[in-house]
Amino acid sequence: MDLNIKNICCIGAGYVGGPTMTMMASKCPDLIFNVVDINEKRIASWNHKDLLELPIFEPGLEELITKTRNRNLFFSSNLKKAIESADIIFISVNTPTKKKGLGAGKSSDLKWVEASAREVAKYARGHTIVVEKSTLPVRTAEVIEKILNSAKRNSKREEISFSVLSNPEFLAEGTAIKDLENPDRVLIGGNNKNAMIALSNIYRVWVPEEKILFTNIWSSELAKLTSNAFLAQRISSINAISAICEVTGADVREVSRAIGKDSRIGSKFLDSGPGFGGSCFKKDILNLVYLAEYFGLTEVANFWESVVKINNWHQKRISEIVVKKLFGTVSNKKLVILGFAFKANTNDTRESAAITICKNLLNEGANLLIHDPKVNASQIKNDLNINPKKSVENSNSSLNEKSGNWEFSKTIHNIELFKDAYAVIILTEWEDFKKLNWTDIAKKMVAPAWVFDSRSIVNIDEVRDAGLSLWRIGDGLEDQ
Ligand code: NAD
Ligand code: UGA
Repeated sequence: MDLNIKNICCIGAGYVGGPTMTMMASKCPDLIFNVVDINEKRIASWNHKDLLELPIFEPGLEELITKTRNRNLFFSSNLKKAIESADIIFISVNTPTKKKGLGAGKSSDLKWVEASAREVAKYARGHTIVVEKSTLPVRTAEVIEKILNSAKRNSKREEISFSVLSNPEFLAEGTAIKDLENPDRVLIGGNNKNAMIALSNIYRVWVPEEKILFTNIWSSELAKLTSNAFLAQRISSINAISAICEVTGADVREVSRAIGKDSRIGSKFLDSGPGFGGSCFKKDILNLVYLAEYFGLTEVANFWESVVKINNWHQKRISEIVVKKLFGTVSNKKLVILGFAFKANTNDTRESAAITICKNLLNEGANLLIHDPKVNASQIKNDLNINPKKSVENSNSSLNEKSGNWEFSKTIHNIELFKDAYAVIILTEWEDFKKLNWTDIAKKMVAPAWVFDSRSIVNIDEVRDAGLSLWRIGDGLEDQ
């Protein structure tokens, strides 16, 4: 069967659907890409004239949007129209961990995937390739196929048929455009060779042939979960070692450098930090745990669950260190929190270590002043969701928003932010935070004042010369 592909639809205009379709549209100007979402507000942001209003921040995204939007890339809420005309439909909707019911706390909630499949079943015409772009539990393709095939049986529409493929996305936020432009691999799982070739032809425009892998559909689904589990496991491993460094006098950066030189280990993903965040690592590992438990593989389930458990412990450990260093109490003390996003170069805060650490400090009675260059106050308010104990005193005109015992500052370029602070706690590795003038900052703070650097970004000599005490992640020699 020769599959003539002209129209592509993507259901879900989120962190994956938006950038992925933008990249494809820029590489394939002869194809039409319709990105649809039930969230009309999000669609309006994608269509906003002012590129600063795009719903997600990704370096390089604005340029590509300028090039493609309303040329061959369209954002809308009209699912029916986009599905009807599509030859290929990517399902790129959210698949968070289930909050209640069977499998709650571990398995993925597939209600958005199911709803998407039902929309496809309702409106598709001719032969349609349906692609799982979302990260899904193994054998979800079976569910999608069942929904589509029952639509086919019940349909009065002439000749509708479907091929279901798995094509998981491996982009990381903050480097999404680079990752999409130059992926390590493109994985396509399925059993319909023609459909797999048709999908691969899109990628082949810019991705070298040898990077496009064909597998069976279940391997593709499992490879995505496994990939995230391995990456997260490395971070939990190095974070566990950071705790050993701190009590033995070793330095985790030196240990990382030394082990990373072993070509069998490799140097990437060995930066110890405040604990991994992001919308996917935890959810995908828990999904794997659920799968293992379902098949009675208790030891396998326990092994992977420990990666998440140690991450939770590690985040708690950091807030406890702050409290201990500040003489066992942070009650009523002003602490400046630098960074709220789960990593630099994104506005995403999902599962950010900053949420747990700030909540712990708020519970201890601290007054937090939070700054992140891309996260806004209302997002932080949503994430902290904590009843304020009392109002922060010492507020001044530079603080543009205030909520209970935490405050938000849009800018970091005002030395008064640090006035009367007992500590500065760095939780995200934004470039801006590397350039701070610690001598000026120290003069504003309450001595003995502390800098807690969970991302290893400060210049230690500058901090020390300013007379500040410094704690760095995994540094056994830093305690002053
Ligand atoms: P997201 O929450 O940013 O976006 C999902 C979008 O889907 C939302 O805008 C939502 O309104 C929309 N949606 C839900 N149901 C819909 C429906 N029935 N019809 C139309 N639109 C609907 O999620 P995301 O971060 O883009 O992740 C999407 C999937 O990709 C997840 O499975 C995730 O695990 C996976 N993934 C994410 C990343 C990442 O970096 N965020 C990377 C690789 C894979
Ligand atoms: C991760 C994977 O890297 C992507 O391949 C995958 O597609 C994506 O999940 C997904 O499925 O959602 P992402 O979560 O966007 O991407 O970002 P990462 O760069 O992986 O960082 C995840 C977390 O680990 C962040 O909190 C980051 O600060 C932390 N991290 C990362 C470390 O603490 N140390 C490191 O060395 C690397």
